[in-house]
Amino acid sequence: MKALISGGKTGQLRWELARTVPAGADAVFLTREEMDVTDADAVAAAVAAHRPDVIINASAYTAVDKAESEREAAFAVNCDGVANLARAARDNNARLVHVSTDFVFDGSSSSPYTTDAPTKPLGVYGESKLAGEQQVQEILGESGLILRTSWVYSSFGNNFVKTMLRLMNERDELGVIADQAGTPTWARGLAGAVWLAAEKQLSGVHHWTDAGLISWYDFAQAIYEEGRAGGKINKQTRIRPLRTEEYPTPARRPAYSVLDKSKTWDALGLTSDHWRESLRKMMQEL
Ligand SMILES: NC(=O)c1ccc[n+]([C@@H]2O[C@H](COP(=O)([O-])OP(=O)(O)OC[C@H]3O[C@@H](n4cnc5c(N)ncnc54)[C@H](OP(=O)(O)O)[C@@H]3O)[C@@H](O)[C@H]2O)c1
Repeated sequence: MKALISGGKTGQLRWELARTVPAGADAVFLTREEMDVTDADAVAAAVAAHRPDVIINASAYTAVDKAESEREAAFAVNCDGVANLARAARDNNARLVHVSTDFVFDGSSSSPYTTDAPTKPLGVYGESKLAGEQQVQEILGESGLILRTSWVYSSFGNNFVKTMLRLMNERDELGVIADQAGTPTWARGLAGAVWLAAEKQLSGVHHWTDAGLISWYDFAQAIYEEGRAGGKINKQTRIRPLRTEEYPTPARRPAYSVLDKSKTWDALGLTSDHWRESLRKMMQEL
């Protein structure tokens, strides 16, 4: 299998994909400078030159709050960029693995979202990611793979775990949202699922996150416990639960964004690790 992977130098998923290339696979990682996904000609030229069997889209505009005031920039990458990759895949007889998000849902459910649950994004980021999914479906039909995930973190790049560790080492008290539930996902496990899905030629809409369900507050508590136990946090911090309305942000976020992974676990013959186990492994690696 020859894979071409989009995304810049700072991307969490891209970094984990680079660390987990399966034996026997040939992987070409192109940076934003080498293949800006918003540049249709650059994408077409790169895919034609490398002739991959599969394109993995690890690029995205992920600044959820900033997207509210940068609608065009978010859509350029998350919708038009995805369309450029999908067209290049179609024109070069390659498959496409596209990664999407729990933010395509509005969070009003109280049971895990199945892959065919109705979408209704609450903000610009979710809208742009949903538009990208629609481009994959329009251009590639059922042959493209859309893999939705949630709350991604890694020892590389910017994410909630690293922000919490920094703040917990700086502050005596920290307020964290306790009324939004979801599943943290280690980008390492996600990368493994992406590679397996590429090898098994999975298509259609799928969900992959770690297993379990918690709030951001529970997650912060767990980060604190693991951080203290592993010597990554050197002082005591009180973590205070906050309601969403006590921490206003430009973008609204789903109150509940747990994804049902059963279809994907069956298709891959692989189940996700529990989020706590993943967190422990990631913290050991930091
Ligand atoms: N992070 C989360 O919590 C989360 C949750 C749910 C779903 N997801 C989805 O999971 C996937 C991976 O996310 P991630 O956490 O790895 O994101 P990330 O760490 O923010 O990385 C995004 C990458 O996209 C690259 N990029 C942005 N614009 C580009 C362009 N025009 N051309 C080429 N590359 C471009 C960035 O390049 P530079 O390095 O040059 O800036 C960066 O490397 C995304 O599809 C995201 O929507 C993420």
